[in-house]
Amino acid sequence: MCGIVGYVGHKEAYPIVLKGLKRLEYRGYDSAGVALLNGGLKVYKKKGKVAELEESVVGKDLHSNIAIGHTRWATHGEPNDRNAHPHISQSGEIAMIHNGIIENYAQIKRELVAKGYSFKSDTDTEVLLNFIDDIKQHNECSLEEAVRIALKRIVGAYCILLIHKDDPETIIAARKGSPLVIGIGKGEHFLASDASPIIEYTKEVVYVNDYEIAIVRPDELILKNLGNEKQTPFITELDMELAAIEKGGYDHFMLKEIFEQPQTIYDCLRGRLDADKGMITMSGIEKYAEQIMNANRIMIVACGTSWHAGLVAEYIFEELCRIPVEVEYASEFRYRNPVVHQGDVIIAISQSGETADTLVAIENAKENGAIILGVVNAVGSSISRLSHAGAYTHAGPEIGVASTKAFTAQLAVLTMIALKIAHKKGTISIEKYSILCKELAEVPDKVAEVLKLDDSIRLLAEKYKDAYDFLYLGRGYNFPIALEGALKLKEISYIHAEGYPAAEMKHGPIALVDEHLPVVFVATKDAYHEKVVSNMQEIKARKGKVIAVITEGDTVTPSIADDVIILPPAHEIIAPMLSVIPLQLLAYHIGVAKGYDVDKPRNLAKSVTVE
Ligand code: F6R
Repeated sequence: MCGIVGYVGHKEAYPIVLKGLKRLEYRGYDSAGVALLNGGLKVYKKKGKVAELEESVVGKDLHSNIAIGHTRWATHGEPNDRNAHPHISQSGEIAMIHNGIIENYAQIKRELVAKGYSFKSDTDTEVLLNFIDDIKQHNECSLEEAVRIALKRIVGAYCILLIHKDDPETIIAARKGSPLVIGIGKGEHFLASDASPIIEYTKEVVYVNDYEIAIVRPDELILKNLGNEKQTPFITELDMELAAIEKGGYDHFMLKEIFEQPQTIYDCLRGRLDADKGMITMSGIEKYAEQIMNANRIMIVACGTSWHAGLVAEYIFEELCRIPVEVEYASEFRYRNPVVHQGDVIIAISQSGETADTLVAIENAKENGAIILGVVNAVGSSISRLSHAGAYTHAGPEIGVASTKAFTAQLAVLTMIALKIAHKKGTISIEKYSILCKELAEVPDKVAEVLKLDDSIRLLAEKYKDAYDFLYLGRGYNFPIALEGALKLKEISYIHAEGYPAAEMKHGPIALVDEHLPVVFVATKDAYHEKVVSNMQEIKARKGKVIAVITEGDTVTPSIADDVIILPPAHEIIAPMLSVIPLQLLAYHIGVAKGYDVDKPRNLAKSVTVE
């Protein structure tokens, strides 16, 4: 949802900012731009990806020790050069970039228009910028002071960076709702939406909090709140390696991340699950174990793929812990006046930890006294900081816009939490607990087995890539996996796909079935397997094409399905971590076969920091 980068120090700023923008491109790629100081304020911006900006500035003198850069995911105003950031204020003195949405921009714009301002773009950003500039001129104050006064009136979300034509040593930054990390170097500072543009220069970072303004100079970092009181910057050490954010020989980040899953799931289990001793150690969860155990219900809030992980968790928690679970789209939960009581347990699931809907949903629930447990991938992110406790998924940075390794890590964490609570509560037999712990420990090796199917799935992708629609069906634990498979295909290949509970298919979607419709059945061995096979027969009777994800040893399905993908056996609670892998690969290979940029699918952004 827009990426921002800034640099001030003794090095050439443009190459640092450009490289940072490439790292942040997963957050949006509708347009890109930079502003720097080189004999005055210079802005270069271009519709399209960062590479197009790079090409457009070839031959220009870009020397500057200060620069700010932006990669955009359009909110206000279509993606074009005019709406690209940075914007320059009407006075020509200030350049600004922005990630977020200014909700009350229309009123402020009316006031500025009445004062004679005119606007070059359709963005809310240009409105905020001119509002700041107007305050600065009117009050004859510093840029920092003008930003502070302006932000007090702003409703909405923002992370902004500003530079002034007469001050080559200062970046002013501020955030509310959109992330900002500042890297501390020697005589230099780096600013970015996440740590990936910073990691190769320094490991010391400060995560700026909401309603804070940062005054950033080569040798100085001052943090203030909107009341103009100084805040102490809390310096954290980054736990991330450069290799984690590079492609490492793979054609795409998405493929790299799919193939990382044996390791990421292992990393997620490591130090927590001791299958031999039957022990699960999760300190964050232990602190609230009594409350979780005794909860009348658990609510899970999340969006997209993380919401699908929540659906799998619903089945697991209800089965193992006998606690009712409600899984909510965060965007619905936050607006529909949900009933939240003191002590209610809410699990927020998020890869980025910055998703605006999830963040606000838990903010509201926290105000009502709920206990918030975060299952988050990005360390230090807003959701992780807002949660009372939780468990990181430890999948490492996920750069491909379509979520893959974060999902399986979420499933691993949620399964461990459910097992831990069920064990403590006594709702699981010792025998079943021990079987599930052992099976969980085997997941990384089994995922590695499944990944060996990559070549055959590529061939399947060739066979089905020209279909216009896909249906994904599954029952029980595999129903959310059907939803996830359909979401992956939509995102990456732009083929329309729907996920349904297999039995629900006959209540409507069956009308779509003809000889052109591929139907992917997630039909691994479980309690409902025979029923799913009957649903498969119903599709075949209507000439649909069946691709079935099944378990080794299944002798019936291969004679019905057109194509089968055979997985190693696993307990039905564990199976989703395996059955999703071929669906990720199928979506990936179809996207590649159709010639699309799978790491940056159109219209999407990785971290959705707007509502
Ligand atoms: C799908 C995908 C999105 C995210 C959703 C939530 O591949 O990536 O659907 O899952 O935007 O994001 P997080 O998990 O960061 O809150």
